[in-house]
Amino acid sequence: FRFFRFIWRVTYLSTCALIGYTGYQIWEGRNPAEQFEPDPSKKTLVILGTGWGSVSLLKNLDTENYNVVVISPRNYFLFTPLLPSCTTGTIEHRSIMEPIRNILRHKKARVKFYEAEATKIDYEKRIVYAKDDSDIKGDTMETEIPFDMLVVGVGAENATFGIPGVREHACFLKEVGDAQKIRKQIMDCVETATFKDQTPEEIKRLLHMVVVGGGPTGVEFAGELQDFFQEDLLKWVPQIKDDFHVTLVEALPNVLPMFSKQLIEYTESSFKEEHIDIRTKTMVKNVTDKYIEAEIQKPDGTKGIEKIPYGLLVWATGNALRPLVKDLMQQIPAQKNARRGLEVNEYLVVNGSENIWAVGDCAVANYAPTAQVAAQEGAFLARLFNTMAKTDALESELKQLSAKQATAKPDDRTVVLNEINERQRQLRRVKQIGPFQYSHQGSLAYIGAEKAVADVSWFSGNIASGGTMTYLFWKSAYLSMCFSTRNRVLVAFDWVKAKFFGRDVSRE
Ligand code: FAD
Ligand code: NAI
Repeated sequence: FRFFRFIWRVTYLSTCALIGYTGYQIWEGRNPAEQFEPDPSKKTLVILGTGWGSVSLLKNLDTENYNVVVISPRNYFLFTPLLPSCTTGTIEHRSIMEPIRNILRHKKARVKFYEAEATKIDYEKRIVYAKDDSDIKGDTMETEIPFDMLVVGVGAENATFGIPGVREHACFLKEVGDAQKIRKQIMDCVETATFKDQTPEEIKRLLHMVVVGGGPTGVEFAGELQDFFQEDLLKWVPQIKDDFHVTLVEALPNVLPMFSKQLIEYTESSFKEEHIDIRTKTMVKNVTDKYIEAEIQKPDGTKGIEKIPYGLLVWATGNALRPLVKDLMQQIPAQKNARRGLEVNEYLVVNGSENIWAVGDCAVANYAPTAQVAAQEGAFLARLFNTMAKTDALESELKQLSAKQATAKPDDRTVVLNEINERQRQLRRVKQIGPFQYSHQGSLAYIGAEKAVADVSWFSGNIASGGTMTYLFWKSAYLSMCFSTRNRVLVAFDWVKAKFFGRDVSRE
């Protein structure tokens, strides 16, 4: 009996603590403290982008040490790991967006934000050119922003490898707008396929959902789409039962190349059970409005071209450089041989520059282009910049103390000398910041039918797991990683809502 009373008390107290903590987080989120203007004589730090790298930097940066200016065409942070769930309405897109204004308003010193696209970085003149490309146009649409220090965190754009027709006919899956477009097109395909007198061939084409790219984006989307079909579409539009079909097309011999062999096999067999077709060794070469043309390897080893009709085409073949980044690379001679992005040193300084740093998908630091890497790089830069500001402050204090010591009376000299020694000790401690070191926490991916795969680092080893328990782990990991309490609550509600009421099949 005592044991149960103890358990009851612990449960009661931890629930109260959780409610109290969540309540405080919500209150704090709604009531930011007063901000002060930073000292105009301090250095201007310009940060490009509001993605994983830049926001992680902003979150950890002591903004009172710099005049911080953020430029991005997106006035929110997007939690990309849950973006595939927005394509089918499992999660509403606003649940994984966090306004950048909220993030910046909670900093001690004010940060300027311009919703604009950086169109050019003049490395020599230390100027960023920015353009407001939003729908509402003011009298001023272009401006110049000078910087002392610059952080480039603009991410990457979708790779198309110059394949004709991709940009015109395929949907990408990188931004909120892409997920909304896909959600709309899925329902459009379904409604058009059920239009009176549609031919059987056309119904088959319209209900063929083709995903190109067997990386984690393509796999997660294919899984989400099949779930949507099985759990909701089938109920409300049963006549599409035999024609709705998801196909994943991949150029390599297998999907998810970054996962262990065992998990690749698990994913492929789960897809088979879920009736998702995987077409490996199939490289798309051309895209038209109704079919893709792919180079396939025939059983006899020869190559041929196959036409695959589609209703919805989602293109997820990885990353390519943004024009802004390409242009900056051309200005810096040390970047002459760089191909995949801005090459950086172990302190994330762009090679060949002194005052430009790069984080995330636009930087090449020999890590995979993932949110995990970008977030750790951003946090590292914040530590570096906070340290640099402390170093500057200590060095100027030391200068003043040395001057004071020279003019001090003999009795006061020992006191000043002690102060100098103390500051020197602090300076040595502060300067001890080591280079950036990435700590890999593991890879996770949802594969549909309430299953996930995980390659998780555990001490010095690795644990590979797949299945429903891993799915629960995937859910709790992503819920805890959401940016704010608001995001966490909204995502949890969306999951509950989808479970109880199903996903919404109306076309906006
Ligand atoms: P981004 O997060 O892409 O941010 C770039 C920012 O720069 C944006 O705010 C953009 O608006 C802004 N920008 C663009 N152009 C300009 C310009 N000219 N001037 C100023 N600003 C500009 N990684 C994981 O580790 N785990 C996952 O589960 C995972 N899931 C993913 C799911 C999907 C669907 C996708 C697409 C990616 C996923 N990733 C995941 C990868 C991860 O999202 C990226 O690696 C990460 O977003 C990179 O961060 P970043 O800061 O470099 O760029
Ligand atoms: P990716 O680069 O990981 O995979 C793209 C795939 O497309 C490759 O396997 C490639 O062989 C294939 N491909 C390229 N051209 C093709 C063609 N013409 N025809 C057929 N197949 C073709 O890209 P993805 O999935 O967009 O991921 C980008 C980055 O984001 C990666 O670093 C990934 O690790 C990360 N990410 C991580 C996730 C996770 O951890 N859960 C989820 C989504 C993305």
